[in-house]
Formats: sequence, structure tokens, C-alpha cells
Amino acid sequence: MQFKTAVLASAVTISMLSSCLEPILAQNTHRAKVVSSQDEAARFVEHLFARMTLQEKLGQMSQLAMNDYEAPVAEERIRNGQVGSLLFVTDPEKINHLQRIAVEQSRLHIPLIIGFDVVHGFRTIYPIPLAIASSWDPQLAEHVQSMAAREARSVGVHWAFAPMVDIARDARWGRIMEGAGEDPYLGSRMAEAQVRGFQGEDLSSPDHIMACVKHFAGYGAAVGGRDYDSADISDEQLYNVYLPPYHAAINAGAGSVMSAYMDLNGVPATGNKFLLTDVLRKQWHFNGFVVSDWGSIRSLTTHGFATDDQDAAVRAVNAGVDMEMTSHVYRDHLAEAVKEGKVQQSTIDQAVRLILQAKYKLGLFKHPYVDVARSRREIGSVEQHKAARAAATQTAVLLRNEGNLLPLKNDLGSIALIGPLIDSKPDTLGSWSLAGDVGATVTILDGLRNRLPSSTKILSTKGVEIDRVQPSIFDAQFPSPKPQMKTAEERKAEFEHAIDLVKQADVAVLVLGEAQNMNGERASRSSLALPGEQRQLLEAAVATGKPVVLLLMTGRPLDITWASQHVPAILNLWYPGTEGGNAAADLLFGDANPGGKLPVTWPRNVGQLPIFYARNLTQIPEHPETRYWDGSSAPLYPFGYGLSYASFRFGKLALSKDVVRAGASLTAAVEVENVSDRDGDEVMQLYTHQRAGSASRPVRELKAFQRIHLKVHEKQTVKLTLDTNELRFWSTQTHAEAIEPGTFDLWIGNSSEATDHASFRVEP
Ligand code: BGC
Repeated sequence: MQFKTAVLASAVTISMLSSCLEPILAQNTHRAKVVSSQDEAARFVEHLFARMTLQEKLGQMSQLAMNDYEAPVAEERIRNGQVGSLLFVTDPEKINHLQRIAVEQSRLHIPLIIGFDVVHGFRTIYPIPLAIASSWDPQLAEHVQSMAAREARSVGVHWAFAPMVDIARDARWGRIMEGAGEDPYLGSRMAEAQVRGFQGEDLSSPDHIMACVKHFAGYGAAVGGRDYDSADISDEQLYNVYLPPYHAAINAGAGSVMSAYMDLNGVPATGNKFLLTDVLRKQWHFNGFVVSDWGSIRSLTTHGFATDDQDAAVRAVNAGVDMEMTSHVYRDHLAEAVKEGKVQQSTIDQAVRLILQAKYKLGLFKHPYVDVARSRREIGSVEQHKAARAAATQTAVLLRNEGNLLPLKNDLGSIALIGPLIDSKPDTLGSWSLAGDVGATVTILDGLRNRLPSSTKILSTKGVEIDRVQPSIFDAQFPSPKPQMKTAEERKAEFEHAIDLVKQADVAVLVLGEAQNMNGERASRSSLALPGEQRQLLEAAVATGKPVVLLLMTGRPLDITWASQHVPAILNLWYPGTEGGNAAADLLFGDANPGGKLPVTWPRNVGQLPIFYARNLTQIPEHPETRYWDGSSAPLYPFGYGLSYASFRFGKLALSKDVVRAGASLTAAVEVENVSDRDGDEVMQLYTHQRAGSASRPVRELKAFQRIHLKVHEKQTVKLTLDTNELRFWSTQTHAEAIEPGTFDLWIGNSSEATDHASFRVEP
């Protein structure tokens, strides 16, 4: 991991220097052999395969990081057939150069597959994945990832290390921002949508890239929310909660899977045969390839699992890891291990076949190079920016709006824009925006300047700093100098200046939250408090008596319990991406209407973690205040919650039948009416509960949802289909998955606390 900083520094330098279209495939001796059908593809791979030495096969199983440490030897290794894949190279000319070495100078002319963390955009950054999940709109998730794929593929990146589909129920875990939150059903819909977006119909098209579902499996359950720590997950939770999103992504055709760092129930995920072979290959029939996480094969020794590097390589490959990310234990030790009979030749062959087939499906044997001029047109195009702005308006969650303070009036004389995040480009992008175009980012201040007439005065200042407690491994992407540490007097003066501006303005908008490097990898927190003196700033602003809007930028739910009682309007943007500032202005002034819903339960304080809505019913559930001696166990905001500037009235819930056969479906219909003078979106959510069975089931589980748009006073009958296969669960008593006949409750509404209720029976 220590090399990552240097890697990222070079990863972002996409030079757009002039270059003409590459003379594609001038010397690729395989071209003539490339044919269209899948069968012939397999034959093509076999033909190649027959000529490969063991060392060349191990080369295909090795991925090299283009960092300061490895880049100097990269060309020679590629030429010698010791490298099958690269990560962290994003300059199209550089990619073409390296690809040319592989295709024209290596003995077998096998193209490289280039991977990168295309997590929520490539150069144009979209809202973070947790925000995308807040849209409750799988089509949006698909669209956003297809846009990201277009940019990435245009420079020659073929493979996204995304989507991350780890269920996360503990907001301390920094990587909660990379996933779809706490729920297996919502998580599954978002997982499959993202795979479709990345991969499209045809992986070989110049607009698509291969997905890599990560981190298999259970990484989000790290104990204490501490990144990389062990996960202890019962089979019941594994099958019913943690595995479904991976399975959905595999069913959607994901081409690859990444193994996780941590150990699952005592066995490191990267050496875990149960996960990588029994579940992935035997139960789910996955036919893509598995890549390790960064150095996670070598670290099997750190786990106290493997005795030495060779043993680590043996255990990983025998468990089912086909490609090694970064460390070189495959390259250095597997040949010997094969000779010693510790690894079967057929295990190596199978891994290499899968990797070559992926390269074939990506069309790399046919079109190994990129058109640099085309990439210049794709990157940061108007279309990308439009999509990023729309996505950021659709993912924001309105948490409070007392007295309809929002949207703000268009004829404000002045607005105070206060907070450490008002004008920070990196923080607007959010974590995991490694190749993001920092310069092109629209901050909240930029957005308001773009939106407001010159007659509205913008009074802006930070008020307080967020001291970045420790440098992040990803800081290299933002080479701007760190803010100067201020003296106590300077800080006091700045704080007071901010409050003076609030007093002078008609309305104050405070942009508070976390610096982007406080979440993401290795960025767990033991507190959910607003870092630094942001809370004091907020309290002082509210104490002025001026109307205050809190705009949150964060990658996790924060402790805003005080704000939820004292700040009239709270709009959570998460990290909104490149067009975040324009989107914020659209939302603040009512050009867009927030319709996002929380994909995670929002706790009152850190002590409630982990927290999630789908808990089991146990003794006196109706009294959440009895769960803790010193406070309620009820969340601040429930899963699925989010307001709108519009208001909606729901009619009576009607089920298409009250008895249904296992395997069949029923429909729940409800009329929704927009009873306001604004167009708006609502997300109708359907939850069920199994009253009795072989095991106790969660109090509610999401089983269907739909985001709808209703014009002023429009009515619509929303029909949600409940497929009873969704009621299937893995039972600790039977050790099997089944739909258990019996009586079920069903609720429909706009959060997990929906009250419209019906019941139905499932018959065998
Ligand atoms: C992360 C992965 C990521 C990889 C490459 C690892 O540290 O856990 O999610 O894809 O680095 O950047």
C-alpha cells in the first residue's frame, strides 16, 4: 500500500497532447485469427494457449501497478510477457505506448487489460455511490456508470474496479460511501444496474468497460467499523444480507470479481475456498475471473494464514484467485509450486483461460489501441457535465424543511454562504475520484455565483477549518497546498467574521460536513460528530435568529441530532461531484426538487452503531427507549426517508390477491396524488414481514420500490409487484433457502416506517 500515493499522482496526469489516430494493429499477428462468434473465441484462446509457457501464463495472472516503484521496470516486464494487466495508468498516449509493447514486442502479442477505480465517474465525477443509491433509481445508476464507462474506455481503461456492493450498517466504516448502504434488496438493484451501465450489451464497444464486483465478501461488516478488520458474519446473515448484491451483480453478467482484504469468520477472503469456489463458482456458476485486492495475496502471511510467500500464492490460487493485484508472489512462486505438485497445472490453465477470454470479450485482440483524439472529445463533454448535474439533483436528500424555508426565494437581497466546504473542489468531488478533473469542479460558491442575479449579494467565508487529522493515501491527487494552520486569534476572528456575515444577510446557508479524505479507504472514524468547530459555527449562526439552511457534504451519516431540532432546513448532498455546486443551486432555489431517500438508517449518535431497519423482532419492540439506559434506540431518520418540496397523499392500499402460491407474484396498488403546487418525485416502497416460520425474520424487509414523478396535482396509481421469490430466505434451522408458506404483513409508503398495511398468505 505504501506505493499508492505515488501511483495516484501519475494516474491523474491525463495529458491531452496532440496525437493522431493510432495505426491500429499494424503488427498484431493475431488479427487475422480474430473472429466473431463465441465458439471461435474459445478456439482462438485455445490456439494461443497451446503456445504459452508456464511463465507466460503466470504473466497473464499478474497485474502491475504503474507507480514510481514498478513503472521503471514495467516496459521490460511487459515485453517479456510477465504482465497481463496494469492499473493506475490513465493517459491515453501512455496506454497506447505500453499496449504497443505488449502487442508488438512480446512473444505472443497478447494485449494488456488496463484497470482503474472508476467508482463514481472517471474525469467527470458523479455523486458518490451512496448518493446514487439515495436516488432509488436503478436507471440513474445504470446511466451514470455508462457515462463513466464512456470516458474511461476512451482513454484505454478497460476495466472498472467497481461496483462496490458491500452492505454496510456501520457509518464509522469509511467505505460506506462507496456502496449502496444497508439493504440487500436496494443493494442488489443498484449492483445489477451498475454492471449493466459499465458493460452494456457488448463489452467490445468503444463505450463500455468490464465491471469488477468487490470486495468479495463481507468487507462492510468490519468489526467496530475499522477498515480492514475481520468480519464475523453468521451464515444466516451472509446468505440473506451480505451475499445477495454480489449474486445480483454476477447474474447481471459482471465479468470479474475482486476478493476482499479482511478475513471472514477467520479465513482471509483472498484465500477463502468457500467463498471463491463453493459459492462463486459452484453455487453461482460465475464464469469470469477473480482478481485479488491490492497485495492481498501476499498479506495472507500477515493474517497468520500462510507460512510464506509461496504458501500465500498456493492458497490464493487454489482458493480461486485468478489474477494478482500488485505483489508478485504468483509470478515469483507459482512455477515452483506447480513443479512441487502444490498447485495443479489445470488450476493455472483455468485462470489464464478466463483472463484471456475476458480480453477477447473486450475486443482487445482486435482493437488494442485508443483513438487519442476521440478521447479528448469524450472527456468532460457537455453531455457528461449535464448528466453529472442532473444526477446530483436526483441524489440529494432533504432531511428537514420547517416552514418550507426551502426553496429559497429568487429575490434575496443577500445570502451568507458559510463553512469550510463552500469552495473546496476536492471535497465537492468526494473520495475515490482518483482521475477526477479537480479544475473543472463547480463548488457551491461557484454554483451560487452562476445562479444568482447580480442584485443578490453573496457574503461568503469559511468561518472554520476542517483540520485533516491525517494525510490520506489519496491526497496525492490533490496537490494543492494544505491550508495554513491559523493561530487561535486568527481562528476566533474568522469565526466572528462569519457570524457577522450571517447577521448581515437575509438567509444563511452553511455548508458543513467532512473533508473528502475522512471517508473512503483507511478512513474510518470513531465519531460521527461534525469535525472541528463546525457544530459551534452552526449554533452561533442559528443564535443570530436568521433563517439557516444546512447543506451537508459527507460520505456517511453524521451526528446532526442538534441540527435536526434547531436548524430549519437540512439538505444532504453527500459528495455531489463535478457539477455539485450547480446542482446545489438548482435545489436551493427550486429549479430542481429533492426526491432522494436514505439508503442507510441515520443514527442519533455513534453509540447506536451498527444500526439498520431490518432488525429482528424481540422482546417489547414497541419501546425503543428501553433498549439503552441513556437514550432511545430509534434512529434520527429511518431508512427510506427523505422529504420533497412537494407533498403527496396516498390512497388506500389494495392487493391483487390475499392468497398467493409460492413462486407466483401479487401486486400492491396505491394511488398517489401530488397535493402541492410543485412537480416532484416520490419513492414508493414495499416492505414485508413473515409472521412465523423456521426462523425469526426481520420486522420489515424492502421487497419492491419505484420512484415516480408527479406533476402539480397529478394522481397516479402505483403498482408494485411482489415476486414471492423475494420472500425466499436461508434458514439456520434447515440450512437451506426456501419460501416458507404462511402469513405475511405488507406495508407500502414513502419510508421504512410506512403505515399503510395489508396482509396476505403464501401457500405451497
Ligand atoms: C482497494 C480496492 C481498489 C484497489 C485498487 C485497494 O486498496 O481496496 O477497492 O480497487 O485498491 O485501487
